[in-house]
Amino acid sequence: MRLSPCELLCLFLLLAQSTGTPDQPPQGNAECPEDTGITDGNATYTDELRVGSMVMYTCARGYYPYPAASRVCQSNGKWTELRSKTGHLIRQPSCREIKCPSQLDFENGSYFPRLTSYSVGSALSFECFDGYNIRGSAQRTCQINGKWNGTTPICDDGSGNCLNPGIPAGARKTGIRYRIDDKVKYHCMGNMDLIGSELRVCQESGEWTGTEPSCQYPFSFDFPTEVKDQFDASIANILDLTQRNKPKTESLARRIKIKKDGLLHVYFLLDASKSVGQKHFEMFQNSIAAFVEGLARFEITVNFGIVTYATVPKVILPVYDHDSADWTVVQAKLTNRTLYRDHHDRTGTNIRAALDVVYEMMSFQKTSFHLQKRDQIWYTIRHAILLLTDGKSNMGGRPKDTIIKIHRLLEIDEKRRDFLDVYAFGIGNLDVDRTELNDIASKKPGENHVFVMEDPESLKASFEDMLDFPDFGDMCGLANESSAATIREKFPWLVHIKAPLGSDSCLGSLIANRWILTAAHCFPPTIDSGLFAIGIRSDPEQIYRIRNVHVHELYDSRKKQHENIKEVYEYDIALVEIDEEVKFSKVARPICLPCTEASNRALKKLAQMTCDQQEKYLISVRDVPAHFHASSGRKLNVIIESQDQKETCNNKITHWPDFENVTDVPGYTSQFLCTAMQGRDVAACKGESGGALYVDKNKRYIQMGIVSWGVYNPCRNKAYDYSTQPPELRREPARPGQSPRDFHLNLFKPEIQTWLKEKLEGIIGFL
Ligand SMILES: *[C@@H]1O[C@H](CO)[C@@H](O)[C@H](O)[C@H]1NC(C)=O
Ligand SMILES: *[C@@H]1O[C@H](CO)[C@@H](O)[C@H](O)[C@H]1NC(C)=O
Ligand SMILES: *[C@@H]1O[C@H](CO)[C@@H](O)[C@H](O)[C@H]1NC(C)=O
Ligand SMILES: *[C@@H]1O[C@H](CO)[C@@H](O)[C@H](O)[C@H]1NC(C)=O
Ligand SMILES: *[C@@H]1O[C@H](CO)[C@@H](O)[C@H](O)[C@H]1NC(C)=O
Ligand SMILES: *[C@@H]1O[C@H](CO)[C@@H](O)[C@H](O)[C@H]1NC(C)=O
Repeated sequence: MRLSPCELLCLFLLLAQSTGTPDQPPQGNAECPEDTGITDGNATYTDELRVGSMVMYTCARGYYPYPAASRVCQSNGKWTELRSKTGHLIRQPSCREIKCPSQLDFENGSYFPRLTSYSVGSALSFECFDGYNIRGSAQRTCQINGKWNGTTPICDDGSGNCLNPGIPAGARKTGIRYRIDDKVKYHCMGNMDLIGSELRVCQESGEWTGTEPSCQYPFSFDFPTEVKDQFDASIANILDLTQRNKPKTESLARRIKIKKDGLLHVYFLLDASKSVGQKHFEMFQNSIAAFVEGLARFEITVNFGIVTYATVPKVILPVYDHDSADWTVVQAKLTNRTLYRDHHDRTGTNIRAALDVVYEMMSFQKTSFHLQKRDQIWYTIRHAILLLTDGKSNMGGRPKDTIIKIHRLLEIDEKRRDFLDVYAFGIGNLDVDRTELNDIASKKPGENHVFVMEDPESLKASFEDMLDFPDFGDMCGLANESSAATIREKFPWLVHIKAPLGSDSCLGSLIANRWILTAAHCFPPTIDSGLFAIGIRSDPEQIYRIRNVHVHELYDSRKKQHENIKEVYEYDIALVEIDEEVKFSKVARPICLPCTEASNRALKKLAQMTCDQQEKYLISVRDVPAHFHASSGRKLNVIIESQDQKETCNNKITHWPDFENVTDVPGYTSQFLCTAMQGRDVAACKGESGGALYVDKNKRYIQMGIVSWGVYNPCRNKAYDYSTQPPELRREPARPGQSPRDFHLNLFKPEIQTWLKEKLEGIIGFL
């Protein structure tokens, strides 16, 4: 048998290896040799020694790999060379100590100590000369991410039109006058990159153009908490959620606020290049999916566009797709595990081409709006681009050129600057080109649009509780979704109604700042309602006095006693008016009521729904997952048995002794939603009446009913051994074959709606 040249070569290589002959250069598609590693650190490969694999260097905490680059195994079987920023060849990378930039200048004040370099943990103190006041941090500490904590200290005497813009650590500034049209210019020393605005101009409004610069070493990075806070703050500005009770700083004043029912287009550009890898790409996907879910809670319509990119871009969801406003579809597309694998040719990083695709989508939409004579609406749309990359673009041309085109297309100028926000996230700080990200990103006063993160884990950490604002204004049905949140933060509408001695206490739900919805049977006619107190449980518990209790006029539990029925609960609804307004906060916030304008906004349906449509939408399936509260506050799960199950529900209750004499069961239950238990969660106990039966839609909570009565009380048997159950669940399960059912006054019922409308006129907007 003849051997082809290739086979000869392979054989030769095999022989060479097995005899241990060193230094034989590999050829053709052979692998790269083991990397020589890094002094004092570790080297890992993204794809072992195969062509295209990268060596990643890691150092101990407080150290960074020098030079700040990774090596790629080339098709000639050699690793790319490592060079310093000035071009020197570096044979052996090493771990160097992280430092913070030196303060080079400080106007009208003094600082100490003055050193040429500052190690992690060292401190700097600033003081202003007489007649000057300090803004920013007078004490700063060098952190492990290579950045000073706090904010740039500035001494100001208030004599300029604009405040002194300050000099960040590591920078020099030219321009010392701060009158209208005066300019200041910054540059960073050494090998630091300037992030933010190099040039700023003092405007008539007293505000500097652009954003404050910072000087960043290639090894420095942002902590997840910083990214979360700064990104949140910027998004809050887009959503007009600037914290109302905090004084606005001069820089937080965005000019154009998005209105309720406003339109926002968000584009995600996800780097699918080879160096990212499946695992890290999934972290990108999950982080962005969490962000989508966060945005879904707001009362604006968001259309999402999704693009993955490497050598070429790929549109996963065009922003004009009819599903692009449906966050569940967007999330499903975003989290599709095949997204990374499906992106072919992952060798390049073509940020320019990815942005070009966004430009085309925008351009297409602008034209369509124009053709439909809806230009006016087009100009109200706000656009946000989130670019995620783990490296620098290496093909396709300057990304910035497309950003300029997008600015032109959207007619972004000083007046329309808030209609576009471009955020650039560099992940894995080694290969990220900060200057390039800074060129792309928006620059707005008091905001940051460039984020450099240590690794994809940090990205995930910073996106976890994103958009979880302490101040949502008066929006209903919002809660802190964090697993670490307290019961009060998780269920801020929950109210305890404490009865005087000898009668049961109840639960209720906060629906407006003076109003609590609960059950009528919580207020027996024999008891003076003035004795009740409302506890909004917080730390410490906030107690409100009751001013007035409005019990439904047709509620009369004894009206069927002549039929031998002990109690009936039709119209088991009451509204409690309290003495003092509840200030909405993270621990006190209303739940949404059905058939209201607020619930329509919470459901984010483009067209306004009628009450009927809302009911059909929310109770459309047979088994609707819903929740109620245990008296401890804990959330318990049930399912609403709707539609044809209703009959089953009625049949079930006739098996219970209390109902043996009831002949007209449907007449008895028609005002109620019937729930069955799910899994180990069992029926409601006495003391939990009056609480909300509610559903979760897009992390907005909407009350469907009021917990009223049930056929089985799992807390009745005091002798039952509950010890194997967690405290909230210490209820006796029904015996096998028994089918406990609970009944909740249905808030959709027209007679109930009429009553609510009458009582809450001018307080809640009903449909
Ligand atoms: C290098 O890897 C070893 C073994 O996994 C680990 O114990 C060590 O902490 C690592 N060193 C650095 C600097 O990451
Ligand atoms: C304050 O700083 C500016 C700019 O460095 C300088 O021109 C000015 O003389 C300083 N004023 C005082 C009172 O030192
Ligand atoms: C900076 O960190 C130090 C040490 O952790 C702390 O004492 C100081 O309050 C911090 N300063 C700011 C402005 O956060
Ligand atoms: C994921 O994407 C692939 C290819 O586009 C598609 O065939 C598949 O149905 C998607 N999976 C899901 C769960 O959406
Ligand atoms: C939500 O709860 C977590 C955990 O307690 C907390 O860290 C976070 O600040 C809360 N968010 C808001 C907006 O209050
Ligand atoms: C049902 O009616 C019978 C006869 O009137 C009566 O003896 C029995 O106590 C009633 N049961 C209940 C649960 O009210």
